[in-house]
Amino acid sequence: MGETKRVGVGLIGFGVVGEGVARLVRDNAATLTARIGVPIEVVRVAVRDLSRPRGVELDPALFTDDPFRVVDDPKVDIVVEVMGGEHPALELLLAALNKGKPVVTANKALLAIHGEQLYAAAEKNGARLRYEAAIGGVIPIVRTLTGAFAANRIDTVYGIVNGTCNYILTRMAEEGVGYDDALAEAQRLGYAEADPSVDVEGIDAAHKMAILAALAFDTPIDFSDVSVEGIGRISPVDIDMAAAFGYGIKLLGVARRHDDAAVEVRVHPAMVPLDMPIASVNGALNAIEVEGAEMGTNMLVGPGAGQGPTASAVLGDVADLARGLVDGAAVSPRPMNVPVASRVKLPPLPASKAEGRFYLRFTTSDRPGIMAALTKPLGDHGVSIASMIQTEHESDGEETAAVVMLTHRAGGEALAAALAEIDGVGILRSPTVVIRLVGDA
Ligand SMILES: NC(=O)c1ccc[n+]([C@@H]2O[C@H](COP(=O)([O-])OP(=O)(O)OC[C@H]3O[C@@H](n4cnc5c(N)ncnc54)[C@H](OP(=O)(O)O)[C@@H]3O)[C@@H](O)[C@H]2O)c1
Repeated sequence: MGETKRVGVGLIGFGVVGEGVARLVRDNAATLTARIGVPIEVVRVAVRDLSRPRGVELDPALFTDDPFRVVDDPKVDIVVEVMGGEHPALELLLAALNKGKPVVTANKALLAIHGEQLYAAAEKNGARLRYEAAIGGVIPIVRTLTGAFAANRIDTVYGIVNGTCNYILTRMAEEGVGYDDALAEAQRLGYAEADPSVDVEGIDAAHKMAILAALAFDTPIDFSDVSVEGIGRISPVDIDMAAAFGYGIKLLGVARRHDDAAVEVRVHPAMVPLDMPIASVNGALNAIEVEGAEMGTNMLVGPGAGQGPTASAVLGDVADLARGLVDGAAVSPRPMNVPVASRVKLPPLPASKAEGRFYLRFTTSDRPGIMAALTKPLGDHGVSIASMIQTEHESDGEETAAVVMLTHRAGGEALAAALAEIDGVGILRSPTVVIRLVGDA
């Protein structure tokens, strides 16, 4: 493409991210042109509602409400999908890749569920597929795993990959506010959607962890194998108790490869020792830690969402692809580290079976014998207790005891069996809160 005069970008979607990309193309035009060699130009834009006013001015003639026109337009050299959802995003990206057009997407739900199909289509057609913005916003994790860390076998990746949840948990810890108030504040400040369920139920984080695990471990991941638990059950009591034991509570995504025998991908609230660097990643920030035998542990931190950071990540991919178009084959056509067909699927290890240390909070009637009723089933199932705090208070006219324990390392199934036994005795006044501990296990 030696005579390239400009690189034409087609935007599918012109919402938070799409407008951000157009703004950055406009505001950083000189820098981008200097770095790519030719200007980047937005040449086509698809939206759902053509009548809606837009935050960035573009020629109205560029807009269409048929997103396939973006894919088909010969002026579009790079297709940028920032529309979201599974359909028609999947069909649009397949159409673009089948034409051999490079694609950039920020759509984590799409990649988590249909990634294999898209990676295979990209590879088969020699079309480039980039997705840095889909995981951790501006954090350059895809590029780091496929570039700087490519010489390492990686068995563990974990992190805080949802800014909404991190913001809510941070406010609960810092201000002592309840979950509902912290969520309302996050919505007021634009950190949480009007319908926050995909974020607070852990689904968005699970999407990102599924994509990350597939990339880091060179194995396909079925999204349905990812264990997901959100932050809705975390109360200020748990946050205070965690602090008393020297921990903070984070929504953590954990991906681990157990030799070549199994792979574990889970998202859940976790207690993190306060002296671990990730414990001080607060507010809407994201952080991803990658462990490799030779490289040690690395943590990448940055804004995980928002217009500027996400647009920056999208445009970073666009710039890379544009340089490839201008200079020739400067960019690897592979979407993953290894050829898609060479990857072996590993059996999933469900979170319920994963070993670990646990925080348990029991709420019981304050009667004699309660402590034995809690500790005996745990002991019988081989779950030993490392430390314990008991507090009493009155609730509904009855003396209530909150018993909080940290266990030593125990199997997930053994713990579940012990808890079911305790539950069967009829002494609990509310469901037991179970939170995994990370770090010193
Ligand atoms: N927002 C973030 O901070 C962030 C961060 C990382 C990744 N992402 C991902 O980026 C993607 C876009 O997110 P966003 O926040 O920018 O979403 P958004 O504000 O809701 O924007 C979506 C855009 O897509 C258009 N659209 C939706 N369905 C369409 C259809 N069938 N045909 C044509 N256009 C259609 C909408 O058109 P109208 O404007 O006419 O409604 C809108 O312009 C999602 O996959 C999201 O997960 C977002």
